[in-house]
Amino acid sequence: MTAPVLDVYLSEADAAHALRHDVRVGLSADPKWLPPRWLYDARGSELFERITTLPEYYPTRTERALLRQVVAQIAARAAVDTLVELGSGSSEKTRLLLDALTATGSLRRFVPLDVSESALRAAMTAVAREYPHLVVHGVVGDFTEHLELLPAGGSGRRLVAFLGGTIGNLVPDERAAFFATLHAALDPGELLLLGAGLITDPAIMIPAYDDAAGVTAEFNRNVLHVLNRELGADFDVTAFDHIALWDATQEWIEMRLRARRAMTVHVPAIGMRVQFAEGEQMRTEVSAKFRRAGLRAELLAAGFTDQLWWTDPDDRFALVLATVSLRKIAS
Ligand code: SAH
Ligand code: TRP
Repeated sequence: MTAPVLDVYLSEADAAHALRHDVRVGLSADPKWLPPRWLYDARGSELFERITTLPEYYPTRTERALLRQVVAQIAARAAVDTLVELGSGSSEKTRLLLDALTATGSLRRFVPLDVSESALRAAMTAVAREYPHLVVHGVVGDFTEHLELLPAGGSGRRLVAFLGGTIGNLVPDERAAFFATLHAALDPGELLLLGAGLITDPAIMIPAYDDAAGVTAEFNRNVLHVLNRELGADFDVTAFDHIALWDATQEWIEMRLRARRAMTVHVPAIGMRVQFAEGEQMRTEVSAKFRRAGLRAELLAAGFTDQLWWTDPDDRFALVLATVSLRKIAS
């Protein structure tokens, strides 16, 4: 077994700087909002792992079952020597890909990328132990900023997996920029495996983001703990309620935190004082759900062609395997 390598493109200083910027912008906006990336400190990553096991949170088990069914077909089309995983978290479902790509004999290297260094380190250690033939090369980075820094393909091809429906956590403009940047960072013939949530009954979708045990509420409120710890803010975390709603126009689930009472919050690290009115709502995350035709067109516009689609029997989740075309189809 080769010792895992870890590239840190997101130093603590970079993260501290980015957090200050995001909080300054988001908390002075009307309505207020915070970027989802800050949900995932060590505790946030742990809470997310608990979410994936909740009865209401169908995306993880649906994607896992679908992947298990089609992974041999994926491996047969993807004679790659590197598997890159964006927003890799615990890389739990990714074992299915690692097994299938190992069975075809081509896989040499695994490159997980995540903003959460604690989650990344734990996943890398486990994968390196379970797959001693693989070079494990982790990247602490932001998939909206550091894609051009991914380890090069060299003589072999790369497959980039982006699972969990995390693509839906980007708003449409961010998504277009993400697909374009990813396409530019890859070579013709390399592959993308995308896992995306599909639009389904709101009575199914909403509880997935508002579970009875309150784990998602705790996960959502965790961003306030992050601001208190990192910026010395004085949020009374218990004074915020978790809200999850389906926005039928934007076609996304929106997570918000609602102030139970009027309050003034101080954020000393950036010299900010923020007023919340009673009942004021702050957006913390969206999780877009897709229509096939729309997502197909978005991928095609960015130059991802030859798309193979698989969906679960209830049409709640899709896996798409697409190829990086020679040139962008449209701009
Ligand atoms: N892929 C896993 C985890 C999904 S949760 C699964 O399918 O279950 C989203 C993951 O993306 C978390 O691990 C989080 O830390 C990471 N993440 C969120 N925003 C990110 C960003 N901007 N750049 C890189 N990773 C990010
Ligand atoms: N990628 C996950 C999703 O969109 C993230 C997520 C799940 C999430 N549950 C959440 C984010 C609750 C914020 C709050 O499904």
